[in-house]
Amino acid sequence: MSFDHSGKVAFITGAGSGIGRATALRLAGECAAIAVADISADGAAETVRQVQAAGGRALAVHCDVRDRATIAAARDAAVAEFGAIHYLVNNAGLVTMESLDELTEAQWDLVVDVNLKGQWLVTQEVNPAIEAAGGGAVVNLSTVESLVVVSSKGYAQVHYNASKGGVIMLTKALAVELARKNIRVNAVAPGPVATDFVSLEGITSPEAMEFMSQRLLVPRVGQPTDIAAAISFLLSSDASWITGIQLPVDGGWLTR
Ligand SMILES: NC(=O)c1ccc[n+]([C@@H]2O[C@H](COP(=O)([O-])OP(=O)(O)OC[C@H]3O[C@@H](n4cnc5c(N)ncnc54)[C@H](O)[C@@H]3O)[C@@H](O)[C@H]2O)c1
Repeated sequence: MSFDHSGKVAFITGAGSGIGRATALRLAGECAAIAVADISADGAAETVRQVQAAGGRALAVHCDVRDRATIAAARDAAVAEFGAIHYLVNNAGLVTMESLDELTEAQWDLVVDVNLKGQWLVTQEVNPAIEAAGGGAVVNLSTVESLVVVSSKGYAQVHYNASKGGVIMLTKALAVELARKNIRVNAVAPGPVATDFVSLEGITSPEAMEFMSQRLLVPRVGQPTDIAAAISFLLSSDASWITGIQLPVDGGWLTR
């Protein structure tokens, strides 16, 4: 199935890699123009290259989701290039692997600032452009770890769990706030997906597969395209009566 995003413009944070890049390619293939917003200039340029090679339209815009000035400049560049913004995908995110006793304040602040505060800041800066376009939709990237602790290393990532748990309520609160602007807000909660987020070896090794096979009902690691498909649906007019939810896309991870 594909969705029709003709005439739409999507602003995607963290689109220089992984799930964000797959979402850029998916939406561009469904006729949206893409603002590829990333802190990595090389990553963003590569995504733009891939979108354009596939016949789509994309623009790289420098954006650190912790920095309001770069977000505003990226938004303005996207509007100048494409004339409007209709969709926002708050995808930029990261994790550091530390036990509670080793976790530093700097690591806590980095993860919570990028994963949670960044979603708020970007939404605050970009939603007026979506309103000006007559409304649209936002999708926030969460994780199954917003709901359950995954201690593959023998310990939780408390800063990551806290940041993504916050994404659930941020999504609901934004859905309430932005409904009057005709903007829907939902979250997608991926299970383990093969990207640069954690090492590929770490996610595909026999030990990792053994650990994951106890949870996964669909016996494979997720691909970025699995998540992009759900994001495309939630942004589309086919989802026009869906707002304020978190949709797990997790191979059944949360089922048992
Ligand atoms: N890969 C997984 O298994 C998985 C599982 C659940 C949720 N997620 C979530 O999906 C989202 C995307 O993850 P991914 O797997 O594609 O990771 P990734 O590392 O492949 O991509 C993350 C992108 O975010 C960018 N980024 C990092 N900090 C930034 C900042 N301050 N400002 C702007 N951009 C920044 C990076 O440059 C990179 O391009 C994240 O929010 C992550 O928490 C991933």
